Amino acid sequence: MIKKTFRGSLAILGLVSTVAAAADTPASLMATYAQVAGVPVSGLSAKRGEMVYRTEHPGRNGQPVSCAACHTANPTQPGRTRVNKLIEPMAPAANPQRFTDAAKVEKWFRRNCTDVLQRECSAQEKGDFIAWLSQIK
Ligand code: HEC
Repeated sequence: MIKKTFRGSLAILGLVSTVAAAADTPASLMATYAQVAGVPVSGLSAKRGEMVYRTEHPGRNGQPVSCAACHTANPTQPGRTRVNKLIEPMAPAANPQRFTDAAKVEKWFRRNCTDVLQRECSAQEKGDFIAWLSQIK
């Protein structure tokens, strides 16, 4: 549902070919998510984004789980998966590859939000999340 809205909105914005060309940036993704959420980019909140990142939710096995569980409390540092595989840092300041490929970003938001929140993240939450990470120095 959210995916459909996201794609639809990309089409409305005439951005589909831009996305295919992989010319995405944290700023362009924030603009798209804000558009889908129906707010101006200034309506995205780094503070709320940090909460998305840090808030612990009851996991399936009763263990609290958060985005920080894998991506670590400090997003300029590398993280670890549950099977101890290295995850490059999430903050674009530490890893310029982050938020430069809309398809990759959507794939992992879907997978990880479903894993942690037991639901997909809203466009507002995704925009807030990127807003927070991209202002980290
Ligand atoms: C179980 C471990 C785990 C948890 C928990 C987790 N992630 Fe991730 N995340 C990963 C892995 C693995 C990747 C893919 C490898 C990579 O990109 O370095 C990834 C990549 C991403 C990406 C891709 C970003 C990009 O541009 O490269 C986003 C967005 C993301 N995660 C968001 C989240 C959010 C939001 C949460 C919390 C709701 C979260 N993740 C929780 C493991 C996790």
